[in-house]
Amino acid sequence: MPLTVIVLAAGQGKRMNSALPKVLQPLAGKPMLAHALDAARALEPARIHVVHGHGAEQVRAAFPDPDLEWCLQSQQLGTGHAVLQALPRVPDDHQVLILCGDVPLVSPRTLTRLVTGADRGVALLTAELADPRGYGRVVRDEHGEVVRVVEEKDASDDERRINEVNTGLLATSAAHLRRWLGRLTNDNAQGEYYLTDIVAFAVSEGVGVEGVLVDDADEVLGINDRAQLALAERTLQRRRAAALMAAGVTLADPERIDVRGELIVGRDVFIDVGAVFEGRVELGDGVRVGPYAVIRDSRLGPGCVVHPHCVMQDVVAGPNCEIGPFARLRPGVELAERVKVGNFVEMKKAVIGEGSKVNHLTYVGDATVGRRVNVGAGTITCNYDGANKHRTVIGDGAFIGSGVMLVAPVEVGPDATIGAGSTITKNAPAGQLTVARSRQTTVEGWQRPRKQPKGGEGGPPDTGGH
Ligand code: UD1
Ligand code: CA
Repeated sequence: MPLTVIVLAAGQGKRMNSALPKVLQPLAGKPMLAHALDAARALEPARIHVVHGHGAEQVRAAFPDPDLEWCLQSQQLGTGHAVLQALPRVPDDHQVLILCGDVPLVSPRTLTRLVTGADRGVALLTAELADPRGYGRVVRDEHGEVVRVVEEKDASDDERRINEVNTGLLATSAAHLRRWLGRLTNDNAQGEYYLTDIVAFAVSEGVGVEGVLVDDADEVLGINDRAQLALAERTLQRRRAAALMAAGVTLADPERIDVRGELIVGRDVFIDVGAVFEGRVELGDGVRVGPYAVIRDSRLGPGCVVHPHCVMQDVVAGPNCEIGPFARLRPGVELAERVKVGNFVEMKKAVIGEGSKVNHLTYVGDATVGRRVNVGAGTITCNYDGANKHRTVIGDGAFIGSGVMLVAPVEVGPDATIGAGSTITKNAPAGQLTVARSRQTTVEGWQRPRKQPKGGEGGPPDTGGH
């Protein structure tokens, strides 16, 4: 049977206490809803419908994905009512899998079990929780067959003692849903049309209901508030840390790494505490990442070392580069092999050749730097004239002394030497020393001014400032 997925995402999420719709709250670097959608896509369904309502425009704008169909539920009258918004567009011969935008950690494997379980009629994903509070409970008869789901607010004291809960995820056929959803009423404690009432309808018609118990209750964590959001984040990060270690990465502490995107690793990578990876990051064999690095959309070649407290984005580094501590590499930095970028160095749109060193307190922007170049401390490429950006080009083997201002557009020839403290506004020729600073003079016989003694004996002369 072809599969249609319906994702319920219309609720506001009042308990988040946020201006952002709940399903857009970020989880591991992307909106919560994206996780449920990714799990759905892994099943290769014919269609994915997203029922949205609260913050509709914002939610749609966050997902321009062409494979999604949007159903507006302008009033949130309950989960059954939500499914009903999408159902007219689902052909009768489709199997329907219903997911919740606020249950993001579910795995494709579990979803496959659920869809398979619906062969008999209805499959309900359930979980056994030590603390079932807040969830609907799964009521079974004396033979262990599921007979209905009761929401906590409608449950008797005995029913509240049941530990098996409804996860909110279920699968059944479109034809069944159409029949049952039409019969829903909102005659219950919350005045809502409950999707869960279809379970009792199925049982009364003799349609089999399979309770599919999830293996790992972490997968069905529902997120209603920020404490649950944080719990989901840690759960996900722990999974990622485990996968990284299995791939041959040493983590100084698997509890203190955050991967908010995709981290692709070689072997024998070492990652120290507090590292944050965003977007798509690739680390070659033997890369070492120091504590508190923030690395986004970058590729570091084998053997690179990132010292503590570096921040980088859109960086490509060749093998065996050394970066930091406290380096900030902004988008468009390309380092060839064995480049050294030292402490308090900022770079952007800079291409640095093999073996070059920019070791201290320097800004290199809009620049092409050759091989074996040494850039002294405190040097700045003055790339901006207040209106436009200009390039600085430094040839192979050049030596730039400390505290040099390179006023772009400007070129320093190969093997040129620039004297410390120079302000270079014209091209500096290859192989020669260029100095552009006022000459040092010493004034013969000059004396420091002295403070006039204040009338009377007075104390010792004042040697301080003003
Ligand atoms: C629901 C289940 C409950 C289950 C729990 C698991 C029902 C009646 N109850 O309760 O048995 O234990 O999930 O997390 O189904 N939504 C809409 N439109 C609506 C109402 C809800 O799109 O009109 C969406 C919400 O955005 C959310 C999902 O449906 O993504 C679940 O709704 P929520 O109100 O959180 O249901 P629970 O009370 O948690
Ligand atoms: Ca919920």
